[in-house]
Amino acid sequence: HPPTIQMEGSSVLSRASCRAKGGAPGFKVAILGAAGGIGQSLSMLVKMNPLVSVLHLYDVVNAPGVTADVSHMDTGAVVRGFLGQQQLENALTGMDLVIIPAGVPRKPGMTRDDLFKINAGIVKTLCEGVAKCCPRAIVGLISNPVNSTVPIAAEVFKKAGTFDPKKLLGVTTLDVVRANTFVAEVLGIDPREVNVPVVGGHAGVTILPLLSQVKPPCSFTPEEINYLTDRIQNGGTEVVEAKAGAGSATLSMAYAAAKFADACLRGLRGDAGVIECSFVTELPFFATKVRLGRTGAEEIFPLGPLNEYERAGLEKAKKELAESIQKGASFINK
Ligand code: NAD
Ligand code: LMR
Repeated sequence: HPPTIQMEGSSVLSRASCRAKGGAPGFKVAILGAAGGIGQSLSMLVKMNPLVSVLHLYDVVNAPGVTADVSHMDTGAVVRGFLGQQQLENALTGMDLVIIPAGVPRKPGMTRDDLFKINAGIVKTLCEGVAKCCPRAIVGLISNPVNSTVPIAAEVFKKAGTFDPKKLLGVTTLDVVRANTFVAEVLGIDPREVNVPVVGGHAGVTILPLLSQVKPPCSFTPEEINYLTDRIQNGGTEVVEAKAGAGSATLSMAYAAAKFADACLRGLRGDAGVIECSFVTELPFFATKVRLGRTGAEEIFPLGPLNEYERAGLEKAKKELAESIQKGASFINK
């Protein structure tokens, strides 16, 4: 029989050669680190997105298994798998959106910054591939520490002459997802009705929920503000500790990344009013509300009025962020 896994170099028996080439309308998405805890669930969720015509799954291990599995789902996207560095370029060529959850996760007692040593090099290699093979793609970076890996990616793209600040986005959607959930719990309402802007960065005090700007408008007691801020800032650690050495958030992260990917694709399609919080390379790097459009993050919104508690939080966030940004940039420019 013909091989049934559409890995690089294999083919399946099909009359629809245009389909096998990804001829269906829609966007081409690559997931780098697709066989990991986030990557597997994210691959499944992106395969369910009707805006996706082609889905490339890349990893340095286990890509064939995940590809075979996901490719059996009866949704529109054509799935192809790519295993190992020598297939990275083919995985990336022609992509509109590249989502990167490749890298090691935390164990209890570690900070996200402790992951820098290993993940910085991984992100550098993958972004060099993006610069070479799909320099116009939107890149959504999940690998931690996001506050440093996005600056690494920016420097790689600058060196390659392909840097476009609209196209490089750190994925902080999980902070918003958590904030919506925890705020809804306190208010006793449906989380789908809540929208909490979360700005700053993606680690500890750099995660700054703007509880004064929650929609629908509401107010909190000082005790609720302290509880919510602390829980949102330490949501990642809550999961790391509960998993007790087996990794960090994967399922809620895959959900958040799928939401983020969908927003990027709706923006690329030209939908109006697609607004998300994301870590962008303005100010010089900061998570804030952005409008996603045909060319990526087309509009960066100002923070809006902050109360005294939030202004104090912002100062703390900026200090730590500046150090993480510097660390990422100097990894490339050393
Ligand atoms: P995991 O270990 O389960 O999976 C990581 C995957 O990356 C593995 O399959 C591994 O083979 C792959 N990988 C390693 N090196 C690679 C390379 N050079 N090229 C391609 N793939 C490579 O980890 P996970 O739980 O999926 O987490 C992945 C990353 O996401 C971690 O750094 C974690 O801290 C981060 N994370 C970020 C957020 C966020 O909100 N931004 C949330 C959760 C986790
Ligand atoms: C998260 O917020 O869940 C991720 O950044 C993973 C982690 O290490 O906390």
